[in-house]
Amino acid sequence: MVPRVEECYALMDEYRMLNNIRDHSIIVARIGELIALGLVKAGVDIALDRIIAGALLHDIGKTACLEQGGDHAQVGSEICLQHKLHEVADIVGEHVRLRDFQLQGAISEKEIVYYADKRVNHSSVVTLDERLHYILDRYGRNNTEIYRRIQANFAQCQVVEAKLFARLDFSPGDITTMIHGPRTLITPLPTGYSHGGRY
Ligand SMILES: [Fe+2]
Repeated sequence: MVPRVEECYALMDEYRMLNNIRDHSIIVARIGELIALGLVKAGVDIALDRIIAGALLHDIGKTACLEQGGDHAQVGSEICLQHKLHEVADIVGEHVRLRDFQLQGAISEKEIVYYADKRVNHSSVVTLDERLHYILDRYGRNNTEIYRRIQANFAQCQVVEAKLFARLDFSPGDITTMIHGPRTLITPLPTGYSHGGRY
């Protein structure tokens, strides 16, 4: 089952998602939606509802992990399965790292959410490079192995970006301005979003 947007917000409440994570998730969903709509226009077979729900729920395991520890992608995926949301569980489970990425394979919903998440720092749209430097500084300092793994994951994300944008008629940089376009499926606005009430 793919939950509707309102059901995703209800799950955010149920799992006590923090406001900043909720705002971040809404921007990730908005980016996912822009990419998905562009891909549909290019004739790519992709499920818009799975992308939006997967993006809104990608950090659903975060509060539990902040309180008790654990891998928030894995915990989030388990929460989805408990609610019989099989169609989004894999998207949530692989939003940090893709398990079996194939450059030549068909574009998948999980690749889009994985990529969109890395374009948002808190609730600001950033480049992959900016996000990489923030993550390295926050998690990779003083740990060479983690530093190396973060870099490898972002190198993979650059490849995913190239794969997605090979089919799109806009560039990665355009997302920063496109995000201010008319709202579509995803409401309400993030609390306190600082761009004139639009996103
Ligand atoms: Fe996350």
